[in-house]
Amino acid sequence: MPTLVELERDALACTRCPLAAGRTNVVFGVGDPDADLMFVGEGPGRDEDLKAEPFVGRSGQFLDRVMLEEMGISRDRGVYIANVVKCRPPGNRDPEPHEIASCRPFLEQQVAIIKPKVIVTLGNFATRLLLDTTEGISKLRGRAYPYGDAVLVPTYHPSAALRSGGAGEVTAGMRADLVRAKEHLC
Ligand code: URA
Repeated sequence: MPTLVELERDALACTRCPLAAGRTNVVFGVGDPDADLMFVGEGPGRDEDLKAEPFVGRSGQFLDRVMLEEMGISRDRGVYIANVVKCRPPGNRDPEPHEIASCRPFLEQQVAIIKPKVIVTLGNFATRLLLDTTEGISKLRGRAYPYGDAVLVPTYHPSAALRSGGAGEVTAGMRADLVRAKEHLC
């Protein structure tokens, strides 16, 4: 098993899929390598591609807010944040199955090295990949699942919550899921 630093070095040089050609930066992941809590999103957007850090744009600010309000946690302590794909899909399109498959070993090794207690998957792509299902997030969320030695708590992607102004049913569901995730951290 590589160290997280070695794995990141591999990712920074990765050309396994066509997303490599369009990236400004590889957005490997950020946070505490000993984190008990890990968030997994879909893929970098424009802001993330420019800053080489996941969830730094609008949906990231929203994620930070609900994380703090529902869990009393901020991203700078005990949290690691990564994405399914590490390079920005052009125009923020959905990642393609072959891009997800190429990048999957990076995410799986990040989880294996960090060994979080709780993994919160944000939206369909992360949830379907880690639970190995084609079911949608609305059906999958609302409960916790075993994932190796960890517990996986699926929730909506913050951008879905933002589409209803950050105050609708999706946001309420996301808040409830984060409360559930916190219960599993103790
Ligand atoms: N959306 C994601 O899924 N990941 C990010 O890092 C930013 C936005």
